Amino acid sequence: MGDWSGKTAVVTGGGRGFGKAFGAALAAEGAHAVLVDIDGAVAEAAAAEIRAAGGAATGLGGDVTDEARMNEVMAQAAAVAGGIDFLINNAGLHSDEYGQPIFKMGLAKVRRLFEVNVMGVVCCTLAAVPHMRGRPGASVVNISSSAAHMHGSAYGDSKLAVAGLTITFARELAPDGIRVNAISPGLMLTETIAAELPPETKARVKAMQLLAEDGKEGHIVDAMMFLTSSKAAFITGETLRVTGGMAAGV
Ligand SMILES: NC(=O)c1ccc[n+]([C@@H]2O[C@H](COP(=O)([O-])OP(=O)(O)OC[C@H]3O[C@@H](n4cnc5c(N)ncnc54)[C@H](O)[C@@H]3O)[C@@H](O)[C@H]2O)c1
Repeated sequence: MGDWSGKTAVVTGGGRGFGKAFGAALAAEGAHAVLVDIDGAVAEAAAAEIRAAGGAATGLGGDVTDEARMNEVMAQAAAVAGGIDFLINNAGLHSDEYGQPIFKMGLAKVRRLFEVNVMGVVCCTLAAVPHMRGRPGASVVNISSSAAHMHGSAYGDSKLAVAGLTITFARELAPDGIRVNAISPGLMLTETIAAELPPETKARVKAMQLLAEDGKEGHIVDAMMFLTSSKAAFITGETLRVTGGMAAGV
């Protein structure tokens, strides 16, 4: 029995990018991965890939800001093995469209950005935690961003709030034995980022790294596996930067 075998992990934004990779890594270690995505078809396709590889997974459609749907999703996840062990709050808006100056985006887009990136974390944590209490090793991992430490964008501000919520939830859930941590990825060449970020932006951001290597999904997966493992049993309320040294230069 390892840290993940026989356990249930809910991964939001689980249909693509980091979320899909998180689900595959957790399932490879014996967890049942419940992938939740606003795009139900990609969530189900990602779960089917895991099952084809011999793992256990369920794909569910749902918006992380929809309280009633998240309550249903968490209840469905908890029914697999009597509760939820891990919640990975990964779903987030970070496309070029949501990375613009506030005056360019306008109120509706900024509101949606905060609704998904910030309130989505609150909504899913409130829905999942009643199913996590009393589960040894239970933990939450939130996905923030290196943009949170650089300041100067609404996207970064939404991710700064995620780092703040990580500390607040760590305090509130410590009495239940639930650890809460976050990861701040730097520039990671997921499919979305590789396809849509202009080469000059990629080069400019990469020049801020200390390490020459490209950031990859695997780097963030390793950090998530560490934070959900017993090796991180004494770590809570922290945001781990995985940026190739980017934040060190800011
Ligand atoms: N890729 C990077 O370089 C990078 C860097 C720092 C932080 N991040 C953060 O990591 C997380 C994942 O990034 P990614 O690159 O894998 O993104 P991605 O766009 O490839 O995947 C995100 C997934 O979340 C889903 N999603 C979006 N809104 C949702 C909602 N309201 N409810 C449920 N699902 C929703 C999308 O459908 C998509 O499948 C995001 O929170 C992002 O802000 C990414």
